[in-house]
This record gives sequence, structure tokens and C-alpha cells, in this order.
Amino acid sequence: MADVGARTVLLGWVQKVRDLGSIVFLDIRDRHGVTQVVVQDDADLLDRAKRLRSEFVVGIEGLVERRAAETVNAKLPTGDVEVRATAVRLLNEAKTPPFLIGDEQNVSEETRLKYRYLDLRRPQLQKNVMLRHKVTMALRRYFDDQGFLDIETPILTKSTPEGARDFLVPSRVHPGEFYALPQSPQLFKQILMIAGMDRYVQIARCFRDEALRADRQLEFTQIDLEISFATPELVYDIVEGALAAAFEQIGVTIARPFRRMPYAEAIAGYGSDKPDLRFDLKIQDVGPLFAESPFGIFREAVAHGGTVRGFVIPGAAAASRRELDEIVEMARQAGAGGLIYMRRTADGVQSSAKAIGEAATTAVLETMGAAAADLVVLASGAPEAVSKVLGQLRLTVAKKRNLIPDGAWELLWVTDFPLFEWNADEQRWDSLHHPFTSPREEDLPRLASDPGSVRARAYDVVLNGWELGGGSIRIHDRDTQATVFRLLGLSEEQAKLRFGFFLEALEYGTPPHGGLALGLDRIVAMLAGESSIREVIPFPKTTQAVDLMSDAPSTVDAAQLRELRLRTEA
Ligand code: AMO
Repeated sequence: MADVGARTVLLGWVQKVRDLGSIVFLDIRDRHGVTQVVVQDDADLLDRAKRLRSEFVVGIEGLVERRAAETVNAKLPTGDVEVRATAVRLLNEAKTPPFLIGDEQNVSEETRLKYRYLDLRRPQLQKNVMLRHKVTMALRRYFDDQGFLDIETPILTKSTPEGARDFLVPSRVHPGEFYALPQSPQLFKQILMIAGMDRYVQIARCFRDEALRADRQLEFTQIDLEISFATPELVYDIVEGALAAAFEQIGVTIARPFRRMPYAEAIAGYGSDKPDLRFDLKIQDVGPLFAESPFGIFREAVAHGGTVRGFVIPGAAAASRRELDEIVEMARQAGAGGLIYMRRTADGVQSSAKAIGEAATTAVLETMGAAAADLVVLASGAPEAVSKVLGQLRLTVAKKRNLIPDGAWELLWVTDFPLFEWNADEQRWDSLHHPFTSPREEDLPRLASDPGSVRARAYDVVLNGWELGGGSIRIHDRDTQATVFRLLGLSEEQAKLRFGFFLEALEYGTPPHGGLALGLDRIVAMLAGESSIREVIPFPKTTQAVDLMSDAPSTVDAAQLRELRLRTEA
């Protein structure tokens, strides 16, 4: 230990005071960890040390000493040394904190968020904030090395549709007019391509007024990039390199190139456009086996354009009655009308729907590749709907039965998304990504006649069932862009009003271009092993959209409203 014998100064917070009478041990915490301080022999020093309490701020001078072998604390990075105090200075007192700053978690998230400055002192959150810094720095270095320009785009801007509601900011100078906070820098980055900035990147704050969840905040951070003359392959390569640089920060080398899966396969096989591939439980279609089944529910489903799908749960043949009921209940909660299970038994096969019969049950078990120890679960319905329900069930079963291996990182590209999805409520098409996504060249002739069949040049990158990022090759000619706006139900006037500047810009020599945006909060949460992005955002909002520490949102002075010519409804 190089520091042994050195004079040192520790500046930090008192984690713990252990007063043994003639000797006092202090645990002093700073951002690098906890160091043990020994106070002994000097009456004045002992007196000062005894008055310290948790979270007091102190400056300690002393000598670094090796700890006696029996007192070495292997849990601390500084656990084999201690500091023998020669001076103890109280720099500030602290009220008794509402919770102890340790790694223990016996406090509600509400209290943690209200006292976020104390919460952030916890080693886990300090680690997360430092990891976020390291990932951000690694990404900045990576994109600089790849020739990207880091360019800022406006926060007070015009709405860019990404599928959420906008946050609006009233203009004082132009009463009755509003800026929108960017849902993403999408239009600006495309305009930067038109402006010749051929490789753009920004660590960009985005704002979306949408329902909050573990992986969603009202404001979040994107690593937003755009490349002129891009092909999907080039984007994949750049993004894989960026994620590799991020993973290096936790000492993990990820396998490249990432797996790829068309959207249709993801939906059919995993019931999700962001499949978690750390475990199997792949959904299989056995509809044809039930075309003439005596089991009416399945036969009718198949006869009316539906199907029968299911998956194999390895090792679940021995499940107890209670466990089986639980699986059926999970399926119901996922939205299944019912769930049939099948397995091999000592004297043949068994199906929870006896009407299916032994021969058909054997055929299903064989077709689906179920071994003696496995259980098969089946549900019926419209193909996509039944896969979606089974996709939910697949996730809950995997968690419940511990089928997800620790330390597995399954990265994949989901490709070949449809360009549009039908919005039945409003009787029009919606963009699956956003309206600037390019259709596949070979599908272009069907853009106006059969929009539902047009595939997009879009791709998402998925990690362990989380969508980390999404992007596309963009439309770069005005006419296609105008056609897409029309299909989305925008009249020519509306399109001009909202996107006129952009349509005009497209006419001045737009290079083909494409890009993607990664969610930084999600990446850091994944790397930190956290299940919510709130754990890697220093000052997040609750799921009720509130900042409990500063108490935002809040009312404002009547004078402020008057100045903006705004009135609120009581
Ligand atoms: P998209 O809307 O897919 O694409 O967003 C890209 C990534 O941003 C993250 N993300 C979020 N993270 C936290 N909270 C949210 N509310 C939230 N919403 C999105 C996700 C997501 O994958 N302009 C396009 C990108 C492009 O086409 O280049 C866009 O914003 O990780």
C-alpha cells in the first residue's frame, strides 16, 4: 500500500461514529468510498470526535496506517488501511437524516426522491452517476473518433411528432403562440444533413408528455445521430461500435455483429417487437393440427382465420396443480381467454382439455419438440393477438421459473417494420416510427394503393427485451414526404403549416441520409443492473409526473399568467 506512512487530509461526511471510550472510530465517506479514522490518546481530539454525528461534514488530518490483520475490512476498497487522526475539524453539522445513508433500501422511493440529495449520497447511486459519466465520456470519444460533429439543436422549437403529446411553452412576445419542447431533434438533424454536416451526434434532452413507467420519463436523454449517404449497414456498424464502447465501461465485450430479426418474426415468435432472447420459450404455431379437432374452441378459432399457438416450458412437466393454476392465471392476466397445457406422463400424455385426445396431444408435443420433462401451453385467437398474449406470458413465466440466466446480454436488431399501422379510432394510418421514415424502394409503388403492406427502412436495437434505440433511413424527396403526410391524414394546408419549412428544405439538394437515437438512460440502467431508469437519473420524476424534491409542477403568480395572456380554468 503506497500511502502507508503518508500524511493525508480526508474531507467528507461522517457515516458512523463508534465511541469505545478511550478510542473513537469514525467512518468518513466521500465519493470514492469510506475510510476508517482512529482517534486516540489526545483528549481534545477525542472530545471533538465524540460530538460528531451521522452526516456531519468534517475535515480530518492524519497519518495513513496499515490496519492490524484482524481488523482488515475486505468489503471496502480502503479496508486494509486506516487514518490515525492528528486533527478533527467540524465543517458543518447536519440534521438527523430521515434515513441512514448505507446501501440498505428500507426506505420508500417517495422519501428517497424528496430527499434526493441524501439519496444520492448512497454508494449505489454514486456508482450509477459515475457510470453514467463514464458511458457519456466514452460515447463522446467514440463519436469524435468516427468523425461526428457534436451539434446542439433548439429546445424552444416547433412540434416534431414522435407519437407522444408535446410540452408547450407560451410565448410572451407573441401572445397566444407556443413553442413546443422537442420530442426529439429529428427535423433539425435531418436539416443538418441538408446543410452538409454529414455526421451529426448530440446528447440531447427530449421531452414527451406520456405515461411514465420504469423505462420512461417525461424528459430523457438520447444519443441522437444522423449520417449522410447512410445505409442501414453503416448505421448498424456505427451503433454497434457505440454500444461496445458503452459496455467496455463495465468490462464487458459484446459479440458483434448483433443478431437480426424481421419484425414479423419477432411478433409471431415472441409476441413483441422487442423480444428478450436470453431464454427460449419461442412461440410456435400449431393451428393446422387443430383444423379438424374435436376440441371446439381451437377448431373454431382455426376455421375463422385464427390460430393456435404456444410454447414449451422446459422442466415444467412436474409442476404441481397450484403452479399450473398459477400459469393459467398469469395467462388470463396477460389477456388470454384461456390456456391449455399438455405434458407427457408416466403412462402416456395428458392435456388439460381432454377433448383434444391423446393422438393430437402427442402430435402437438412432438411438433413442438417437447421433451419428457417439459410442459406445453397453448392458446387460440387471432394470430397477432394470440402471440402478443403469449409474449407477455413468456416473460412472466421466465421470471417466475428463473429461466433468465444471470449476466446474459442479448442484443439484436429488429428490422423490416411496417411503415404504418391502422388507427381504428381515428380511421387513418399512423406511422409506426415517425413520418420521416423511408419506405422500402420496392414497396414504393404500393404507398398510396396499399399502405398497410409497405415496409419501412427502419430498425430498432434491443437489449434483453428493452428497446434501446430506434432509427431509419429517411425520406429525402419532397413528393414521397408529402404523400406520407397525406396518408397520415394531414391536409396540404396542415402539412404546410406544421412542416412547410421542412418540405421546402427537402427541395434544396437533400442527400440520402439516415440515423438513429439511443436512450442513454436505458443504456446506463441496463449496464448498472437497475430495473428502472429513475435509478440512473439524478433528479427523476415519479410515475405521477412530479419532482418530489422541488415540488414541480407548481402554480405560478397571477402576474406571470397575465404577462403571458394566459388564464387557467379553476
Ligand atoms: P424513438 O422515439 O424510438 O426515436 O426514441 C429513441 C430512443 O429513446 C428512448 N426513449 C425514451 N427513454 C426514456 N423515456 C422516454 N419517454 C423515452 N422515449 C424514447 C428509447 C428509444 O429507443 N427521432 C427518433 C430517432 C431516429 O429516428 O433517429 C426517435 O426519437 O431508448
